[in-house]
Amino acid sequence: MARTSRIPGFHKVTIQQRRNLVVDTTGADEGEIGRALDKGGLSAEAADKFVENVLGTYALPYGMALNVRVNGHDRVVPMVIEEPSVVAAASNAAKMAREGGGFVAEADPPLMIAQVQLCEVLDAESTAAVLEAHSEEIRKFADRALGGLVARGGGARAVEARVLAEDMVVVHILIDCKDAMGANLVNTVAEAVADPIATIAHARVGLRILSNLCDKRCVRVRCRVPADAIATDAMSGSEVIDAIVGASRFAELDPYRAATHNKGIMNGVDAVVIATGNDWRAVEAGAHAFASRSGRYQPLATWRRDGDHLVGSLEMPLAVGTVGGTLRVHPAARLSLRILGVTDAQELACIAASVGLASNLAALRAMATVGIQRGHMGLHARTVAVAAGAWGDQVEQVAAMIVEAREITLEGARRALETLARDANRQSTVIDD
Ligand code: MEV
Repeated sequence: MARTSRIPGFHKVTIQQRRNLVVDTTGADEGEIGRALDKGGLSAEAADKFVENVLGTYALPYGMALNVRVNGHDRVVPMVIEEPSVVAAASNAAKMAREGGGFVAEADPPLMIAQVQLCEVLDAESTAAVLEAHSEEIRKFADRALGGLVARGGGARAVEARVLAEDMVVVHILIDCKDAMGANLVNTVAEAVADPIATIAHARVGLRILSNLCDKRCVRVRCRVPADAIATDAMSGSEVIDAIVGASRFAELDPYRAATHNKGIMNGVDAVVIATGNDWRAVEAGAHAFASRSGRYQPLATWRRDGDHLVGSLEMPLAVGTVGGTLRVHPAARLSLRILGVTDAQELACIAASVGLASNLAALRAMATVGIQRGHMGLHARTVAVAAGAWGDQVEQVAAMIVEAREITLEGARRALETLARDANRQSTVIDD
């Protein structure tokens, strides 16, 4: 089946109709969607096997980003996120990027870093040299601990020693984790090779753990958006390009702005990472450490003009897996991979990063033109309406009323609900008469 991520009118139909459309366009199974998403897909009993002291589960909205095209393939992208407008904004921006051919992405091989800390080292420089001379031997120790992964084509690829202080060296073992995120594999290796390394180094072993700054496992995404695709009613495409390039410069010059710029990127990345059962804290830690690698916190994505196109580029580490971990047990995570149609972890990283770049484009365009609050508050108003007790058609009605009254508060929504109830009462009295 030729997948398309263009599904016009998707936001206007019911949840059941949306499920049908996803079945039609991705080949996902309707029963599986129900089992995975009704009640969040996870029973309290299953959750009790994940973590400790469980009382129950905590559900989050599961939405679909549309219009996403990555490396010539359309992808309907599951996003798990509680913040209004992020899914719609990513879909809109993906549509603009699509006008220029979509996202072009590449991911490094899935190399993770195991760290072994060596303390009380007598001569750090010469110890590092000795360790590097033994790198092949250490690599073989690591492979022995990896058994099944080596059989599947992964394994330890290289060993590096870094001097951290006069008396401290750290050894990095670079491990190709194939389609796993790799945390467990890497920690197993770190613990297995520590003693042989200590013997070689004549030093005391400290910590043995993976690094979340997995800068050997980066993903790079670009998009070229034609000016016409990003014009607004009030601004030409060329003016919007200038405004977005100016916003990018702001983030490049100011870490206070870069933090928020990157938060906008992570809105997209994390939502896909969570939907696919991956560890978003690990991804966040890696992203922000990478953003600071020059010694100054930098934006992960930047925007430039190229003639009458806006060109966006994103680079960040992204450790995600398509096998193992939560994926084995969470039906919604398995469903997400099925809907995405990904075959390996690198493909998943390319898609998550593309949605991150789309989220960044959407935020910058909104802020550089009408401001973020107009769209945001409209959607936020729906959440407030629900919190005030609105349901069904009332949600849209109450949201529209509190936006119109510029009173997007719980109190405002309660008053709007009372007004609706009074109007309905009056109407029924008229009919009875
Ligand atoms: C809000 O979740 C994200 C933004 O603040 C991102 C940005 O400022 O670039 C809108």
